[in-house]
Amino acid sequence: MADCPGIDNVEDFKYKLITHRGFHLISAIHSPEEVDRIQNWEIQDSDVFVVTYPKSGTIWLQQILSLIEARGDIEATKDQLNSERMPWIELIGSEEKFISATPPRIRVTHLQHRFVPISLRQGTGKVIYVARNPKDILVSYYHFHKYACMLETPKDFNEFYEKFMEGQVYGNCWFEHIKTWYSHRDEMNFLYITYEDMIKDLRSEVERICVFLGKDLSENELEDVVKHSTFKNMLNNKQANYQQIPISLLDQQNGSFLRKGTVGDWKNHFTVAQSEQFDQVFQEKMKDVLLSFVWD
Ligand code: A3P
Repeated sequence: MADCPGIDNVEDFKYKLITHRGFHLISAIHSPEEVDRIQNWEIQDSDVFVVTYPKSGTIWLQQILSLIEARGDIEATKDQLNSERMPWIELIGSEEKFISATPPRIRVTHLQHRFVPISLRQGTGKVIYVARNPKDILVSYYHFHKYACMLETPKDFNEFYEKFMEGQVYGNCWFEHIKTWYSHRDEMNFLYITYEDMIKDLRSEVERICVFLGKDLSENELEDVVKHSTFKNMLNNKQANYQQIPISLLDQQNGSFLRKGTVGDWKNHFTVAQSEQFDQVFQEKMKDVLLSFVWD
C-alpha cells in the first residue's frame, strides 16, 4: 500500500484485490454482489456510459461531457465534483444513485463488457469507449499504484510490468478489455475514441462526441468546452482535478491523477527488451481485431 499520511494502520481499510467471476475488484470500494446487480439495471436511451481501461483518460471524458452538458459554461459545472456528477458504476452504493438520478445519467466504468447492463449491451443508451496506447497506460498505472492507497505499491517498474502483462491488476488484461468491448460494438450505440486523437486534435474529437450525443453546440460553446478541457485548465479546476478525493484513497502528496498528460511517456520507462516483448504480445493478442492503432 502507499504510505498514506493520516492513516496509522492502512491495513484497517482492508483494501485488497478480490477476484470475482474472473475479474479483479478492489475490496472496500467494490462489492461483488452489487457488481452482479448492474446487469439488471434498467437503461434509458438518454443514458451514457463512458467505458475505459484504467488510466485511459476517464477523468478527461468526465470533464468534456460535463462541459458539453453545460454548453461550455464552466460556471455551471462548479456545483459538483466530476467524480460525483459522473460516478463509477462499480463503486459501492452506485445503484441507488443511478436509479434516482435525473436524465441524462452519465456514468463511467472500467468493467468488462459482460458485467454492464444487458439492455445497454443490446442497444439502449450509449457507450463511449476511450482507448489509449497500452504502453502509456502501463506507465500511468504504475505511477497511480504508488499513491493510490487502495492498491498495492509496486516494488519497482519491472515488477509492475509483469503484473500488468499478467492482468493481475484492477481492470484485468488490457487486451481482453478492449477486444471484448470492440467486438460487440455493432450491438450497441457505440463511439470509439482514442486518447492520442484527443491530444492531437481535441476540438475534432469533441465535435465527434457532440454528434454522437445529438448535441448541437455553437462555435463559441465548442471552443469553451475545448478550452476548459485542456490538461492545464483541468489541473487548476477542483471539480476536475481529483484533488478532493479523500486521503484514505489517494495520497495526493505522492502523485496526481493529472500526472503528465502526454503521449509516449512509455519511452522513458520501458527497456528495449520490455518494449519488444510487449510488441510481440500485442501482435499475437490483437491479430484478429480489425482495428488500426496510431499511437505516436
Ligand atoms: P498520465 O498519468 O499519463 O498523465 P484516468 O482518468 O483513466 O485514470 O486517466 C488518467 C490519465 O489521463 C493520466 O495520464 C492523466 O494525466 C490523463 N489526462 C486526464 N486529463 C487529461 C487532459 N486534459 N489532457 C491530457 N491528459 C489527461
